[in-house]
Amino acid sequence: MRAQMLISREKNRFKEIDAAKTSLGQFQTRHPGWLAPHVLDFIRHRAPAILYDPFAGRGELLRMAQREYPAELRGLDIDPTTHWPANDSLRHIPPLNRAVIVTNPPYLAKHSAKRKGVYSSVASHFASRRDLYQVALDRCSAACAHIVAIVPETLINSDYPKTHMEHITILEANPFTDTDCPVCVVCMDTTRAAIPEGPMIYLGAQPIATLAALNSARLHPQNTVAIHFNEPTGRIALRAVDLPDPLKPIAFMRRAELDYPPDRVRTSSRLVTFIEIPNLPDTELDALVTTANRRLAELRRATADIILSPFKGNTQRGTRRRRLDYYTARAILECSLNSLEIE
Ligand SMILES: C[S@@+](CC[C@H](N)C(=O)[O-])C[C@H]1O[C@@H](n2cnc3c(N)ncnc32)[C@H](O)[C@@H]1O
Repeated sequence: MRAQMLISREKNRFKEIDAAKTSLGQFQTRHPGWLAPHVLDFIRHRAPAILYDPFAGRGELLRMAQREYPAELRGLDIDPTTHWPANDSLRHIPPLNRAVIVTNPPYLAKHSAKRKGVYSSVASHFASRRDLYQVALDRCSAACAHIVAIVPETLINSDYPKTHMEHITILEANPFTDTDCPVCVVCMDTTRAAIPEGPMIYLGAQPIATLAALNSARLHPQNTVAIHFNEPTGRIALRAVDLPDPLKPIAFMRRAELDYPPDRVRTSSRLVTFIEIPNLPDTELDALVTTANRRLAELRRATADIILSPFKGNTQRGTRRRRLDYYTARAILECSLNSLEIE
């Protein structure tokens, strides 16, 4: 079954995609890098008799886990060709005792389902959540106390409740071969009391900080200075996404330095924009750009990049590409202006 994915509204361009693969999220886990030592410890400490994947697909994830932690395997899938017992696990997952759920559920955000032309087949799932993986986590938590799930990294900055999450591990190496969605591994234990500082965030095997500590490093604009984003004639350009070339990271710059045709910068773009600050004298432009880039670099270092949104694919150095949202960009510009004493 094919569907038409919207590529460009303005040019009315579409691309044909596999509707079943998209709406069922049929992307199989191929590489075992997701099973970091602390993730394996999480499973071992629960001493399960069963490893259980309610979205089992070809079962590779289960078999990877079983190689490190021998246990009985149980799987379910909505697709009967997978040879697991058929079950709609986005509606209900049969509970199992002495099991740890190890899964990689389907991912599909509501807005992507619309853009990809498959919304009608999944619309009923979006009553309470914004993405199918969140519905899957709800159903997993209702069926089992202990869950290990590979989900989109956007979980970290989402409003999905993280009360019982022990840790979240960002995977820079892509565990899939057919999608470059940035992912993380979440380990949840619903029998644990809420953890006030939130889950520990790891980058691969390395602990970075608790979610609460990362959140406290966020910058918030005061909106005391006129700063106009998406201003086609603005004197400052913001490349808000890391390019694959490591020499072209997120950066503020003079508009002439942007190596992208100005007439192709759309006012709706979240990746590149022109900015105007009416009270900024031309003579202070370079100082502002330098200060803003320095503050951005400090923020990235202090938070190991994690408070910036993940962007698909990695840089040529293998690190996650990131996107700077305009809310944080505004806050960076404000404090940079304050330090230059221009208001
Ligand atoms: C991302 S794949 C992951 C497969 C496997 N867990 C892995 O990691 O290799 C998601 C799987 O969930 C299945 N699936 C999608 N919607 C489902 C539903 N409502 N109930 C059960 N399985 C579903 C798909 O058929 C697919 O096999």
